[in-house]
Amino acid sequence: MTTTLITGGTVVSATGRAAADVLIGGERIVALLEPGSELLGTDVAASADRVIDATGKYVIPGGIDAHTHMQLPFGGTEASDTFETGTRAAAHGGTTSIIDFAVQRYGERVQDGLAAWHEKAAGNCAIDYGFHQIVGGVDDDALAAMRALPDEGISSFKLFMAYPGVFYSDDAQVLKAMQVSRDTGMLTMMHAENGPAIDVLAEQLVAAGKTDPYFHGIARAWEMEEEATHRAIMLAKLTGAPLYVVHVSAKQAVEQLAWARDKGQNVFGETCPQYLYLSLEDQLAASSDQWGAFEGAKWVCSTPLRSREEGHQQAMWQALRTNDLQMVSTDHCPFCMKDQKELGLGDFRKIPNGIGGVEHRMDLMYQGVVTGEITLERWVELTSTTPARMFGLYGRKGVIQPGADADVVVYDPNGRTSIGYGEGRTHHMNMDHSAWEGFEIDGHVDTVLSRGKVVVDGGEYLGAKGDGRFLKRGLSQYLS
Ligand code: URP
Ligand code: ZN
Ligand code: ZN
Repeated sequence: MTTTLITGGTVVSATGRAAADVLIGGERIVALLEPGSELLGTDVAASADRVIDATGKYVIPGGIDAHTHMQLPFGGTEASDTFETGTRAAAHGGTTSIIDFAVQRYGERVQDGLAAWHEKAAGNCAIDYGFHQIVGGVDDDALAAMRALPDEGISSFKLFMAYPGVFYSDDAQVLKAMQVSRDTGMLTMMHAENGPAIDVLAEQLVAAGKTDPYFHGIARAWEMEEEATHRAIMLAKLTGAPLYVVHVSAKQAVEQLAWARDKGQNVFGETCPQYLYLSLEDQLAASSDQWGAFEGAKWVCSTPLRSREEGHQQAMWQALRTNDLQMVSTDHCPFCMKDQKELGLGDFRKIPNGIGGVEHRMDLMYQGVVTGEITLERWVELTSTTPARMFGLYGRKGVIQPGADADVVVYDPNGRTSIGYGEGRTHHMNMDHSAWEGFEIDGHVDTVLSRGKVVVDGGEYLGAKGDGRFLKRGLSQYLS
């Protein structure tokens, strides 16, 4: 069994920080030791097979991105990262586990959708991976099949109040699925936007000649997110289902979540880096020689970017501090401009929705530590510990403690990360642009270990396709 000692660093958890050495044996954490200490009379550093010097650096549990879409068929095309390219990019950015969404569409069997996702991922991933189940066609067969998902290690499913004709569920379908959630303890994950109303607004905008990407965000008004969030909360209350609202971007939606939580309801929410840093105004201002105003397509996602002037971004940061929002995921759903986003030239409704960011979440959230929006401990909690607890992985993942998987990141607060695609910069996602072009982070992912194996060191990828294993998840730790 290979032993590794990470020495000289500051180990950061969700609850504190301390100078400690981390001893790893094989795939697991063995011990946290006083720096330079002996173990059973032997000098640990001298006897370890490998020593990683983390002097002046943070040692944190590997990131868990609980919302990704590798190879998602969507918008007439397919998300451009495969499980191979997307998980490798994630590893570069200090994320050591993802939870992706297996898809069942209307008319398909849930079991077949899940099997298809296993087939896409197995043997291809650089890091460990689990699945949520998208249920895009709630009918009697699907409802019956959903009850068996926890035995498969799938303890959460996603419904859509948006995208009529694609993944949309009406209120009756939502209600029935939530009854399964109540009975099984599975978490209902909700895309909360009023899809039918949005589609009317979008159609009217296009008819009026307002076809640029910016109008995607106008059609998907915050009122549509607030209304759907409230409706989801009330249906969850009625049925007794635990609810987790994904990609929250409107401050009014957060107010709904806070209201329900104050009343004692099991309601949770995530936001994504794009809603903390990017805005509708940025999208309106975007223009390039190549694309003109269509440049804004790079930031077409749903829920959409919100107006900075209206204060949504500040509300998201605040909610992350007050725990009205508990997690940050990426909603990684990459599409290239060429052949993919450009499907929506002349009609924003045809732009495939999604932003790629699985590689940058840990850095972008660390920048929030630098600017004082969140603490170091909260950074770890939002990006690793809470995702593990929320989605039934805690103990194995999300914490550096004896017995846990040795998913560890050595993060250099004195390093620097330049994010982008052009001018010599690069990222590892399979995209022909970066939605994060020009972002500069005052920190750097130095070394990444996945179950004890160094998979990234100084920017070099040392892992292999197939290193990642499927994670059978338990029920959420947040539910009594
Ligand atoms: O724009 C997005 N979010 N694309 C991925 C699908 C979804 O709704 O999560
Ligand atoms: Zn969604
Ligand atoms: Zn998503």
